[in-house]
Amino acid sequence: MTLANTLPKTVKIVEVGPRDGLQNEKTLISADDKIILINKLADAGINYIESGSFVSPKWVPQMATSSEIFKKLTRKPSVTYAALTPNMRGFENALAVNADEVAIFGAASESFSQKNINCSIEESLERFVPIIAAAKKSNIKVRGYVSCVIGCPYEGDITPEQVAAVALKMYQMGCYEVSLGDTIGIGTVASVQKMLQAVSAKVPIEKLAVHFHDTYGQALTNIYTALQMGIKVVDSAIAGLGGCPYAKGASGNVATEDVVYLLNGLNIDTGINFKKLLDAGWFISDKLGKEPISKVSNAYRAKHNN
Ligand code: HMG
Ligand code: MG
Repeated sequence: MTLANTLPKTVKIVEVGPRDGLQNEKTLISADDKIILINKLADAGINYIESGSFVSPKWVPQMATSSEIFKKLTRKPSVTYAALTPNMRGFENALAVNADEVAIFGAASESFSQKNINCSIEESLERFVPIIAAAKKSNIKVRGYVSCVIGCPYEGDITPEQVAAVALKMYQMGCYEVSLGDTIGIGTVASVQKMLQAVSAKVPIEKLAVHFHDTYGQALTNIYTALQMGIKVVDSAIAGLGGCPYAKGASGNVATEDVVYLLNGLNIDTGINFKKLLDAGWFISDKLGKEPISKVSNAYRAKHNN
C-alpha cells in the first residue's frame, strides 16, 4: 500500500488552544486578548475553534471569561465557535451567549471522572442526556470527549474495551463525533493502534477524532498512526499550550503548528495559512511570557529571524 492510498486528502483541525490550552495556564489572560487570539486563529483559516468552557470558575478560573468572549466575538460565518459544557447549567450559559456548538466530556477512567467532574462515569452520562436533548431542541450539535483513552493519572492503564464502551454510549446518546483524549500523553503507536481498533469496531471511524497531549513527545507519531487508520479530525492547541488541571503532570496538547507542518509535508489539505498560524502562536506565547511549545514554530523563527 502506498501512502496516497492510506492517508486522507483533507484533515479537519479542531483548535482547542483557547480552551484546553489556556485552562491550565496560571497567567490570567484577559477576555480581549483571548478574542484577539481566536480572531487570529480564524484569520489563519482554522474553521473550528473551541473558544471557552462553561464550568465552575472555582474549578477552572481561567475559563471565567467565557461568556464575555462569546458575547464580544465578531464571528466569521465559516467558523464554528464551540464551548465545553459539563452540565445543564453550563449548557444554558453557553446557549445564552450563542455558542455554535457544545462539547460534553466524559472519561474512560472512574477516578479521573471523579477528580475532573466530581461524579462517576455513569452519573456523567446521565447528566449528558438532558444536555443533548436541549441541544437538539436548539439545533446545536454536540461533540463528545472521552478522556484517559490510554491511561489514567490515578488508575494507570485503561483497556481499549473500557474506552470503546464509553465512546459507544456517547455516540449512541447523540454525539455527532467522539474525540478520544490521551489526556496524559502516554500513548505510543502500538497502544494507540489497539485503542483505535477497539473503538472503531463499535463507533464508525469517520465519527471519531483524536486528541493527543504531548507529554511524552509521541503525539505527532500517534496522529500519523491515527491518520493511517482512517481518522480525519485532529484536535490540537496553538503553541502547544496547556493541559488538564485535573491530570497532574499532563502537559499541553500537541501544537497546531507542528500538526499543520506534518500535514503539509504529506500534502494533506487543512486550508490553514501557516505563517498566520505561527503568528497566532507567538501572540499568545508573548502574552504568557514564554516561547511556543512547538519545535516547528521556534525553528521557523530562528531561520527567518522574525
Ligand atoms: P460539582 O461541585 O459536582 O457541582 O462540580 P455542583 O452542582 O455541586 O456545584 C458546585 C459549585 O459549582 C456551585 O457553586 C455551583 O453553582 C457551581 P458554589 O455554590 O460552590 O459557589 N457550578 C457552576 N458554575 C459555573 N458553571 C457551571 C457550574 N456548575 C456548577 N456549569 C462541575 C461539577 C462539573 C461544575 C465541576 O466539577 C467543574 O467545573 N469541573 C471542571 C472540569 C474541567 O473544566 N476540567 C477541564 C476540562 S476537561 C479536559 O481538559 C479533558 C479534555 O481536554 C479531553 C482530554 O484531554 O482528555 C476535554
Ligand atoms: Mg485535553
